[in-house]
Amino acid sequence: MSRLDFPSAVRNGPAILPVLLDIVGSAAPARPRHILEVASGSGQHACLFAAALPDDVWWPSDIDPAHIESVRAWRAHKGVSNIKDPVFLDVSQTSWREGAPLAGVPPRIDAILCVNMIHIAPWEAACGLFEGAGKRLCPGGHLILYGPYKMDGRHTAPSNAAFDQSLKARDPRWGVRAREDLDELAQSCGLVRTHCIAMPANNFVLVFSA
Ligand SMILES: C[S@@+](CC[C@H](N)C(=O)[O-])C[C@H]1O[C@@H](n2cnc3c(N)ncnc32)[C@H](O)[C@@H]1O
Repeated sequence: MSRLDFPSAVRNGPAILPVLLDIVGSAAPARPRHILEVASGSGQHACLFAAALPDDVWWPSDIDPAHIESVRAWRAHKGVSNIKDPVFLDVSQTSWREGAPLAGVPPRIDAILCVNMIHIAPWEAACGLFEGAGKRLCPGGHLILYGPYKMDGRHTAPSNAAFDQSLKARDPRWGVRAREDLDELAQSCGLVRTHCIAMPANNFVLVFSA
């Protein structure tokens, strides 16, 4: 099994962690809380975050089989016991969007974390993420997104504008998303944005609550 190394995850994990602890701490007080990570990637975030939430249950997932294997490998390497076996999840799929059961994951989830995915996937992935989240989050639960976003019709930094161009050059369906579009999408799925937290390197944490 091969452990992949995602330098961005190593870089941004320590900055995301205290924000995550704050937000998840405001979800249902009953333990264990169930946290679904969409697009887990290498699994380095899962190990860092789950180790800091030892009384909770971390459910990693990804669309890419190599990433699922990497999460397994990191989990075994770090020995973090509250990380479940990663599940295959494509948030564009109808079954997720409609709220169908997801391999062992409880039907009600306290929080869903998705880091750096919706700009590196077609808009349909963002739509699916929010639709499925709206059907699965407990009342008071949170969908937590991290990444770059446009705000008030503008990029928040020239580097984000350049990044947006490079994404679109790789795949015209990709691109930095606008916070306003996400707010509208959230509303249509029964969620409301409760936080917009500035993070290092012109990224943000957006929180949408049920
Ligand atoms: C840039 S990586 C970020 C990975 C990890 N969250 C991190 O921050 O290191 C984007 C991830 O999104 C996943 N992904 C892309 N499309 C997806 C989809 N439709 N459903 C679920 N995951 C998806 C990819 O497989 C990849 O692991």
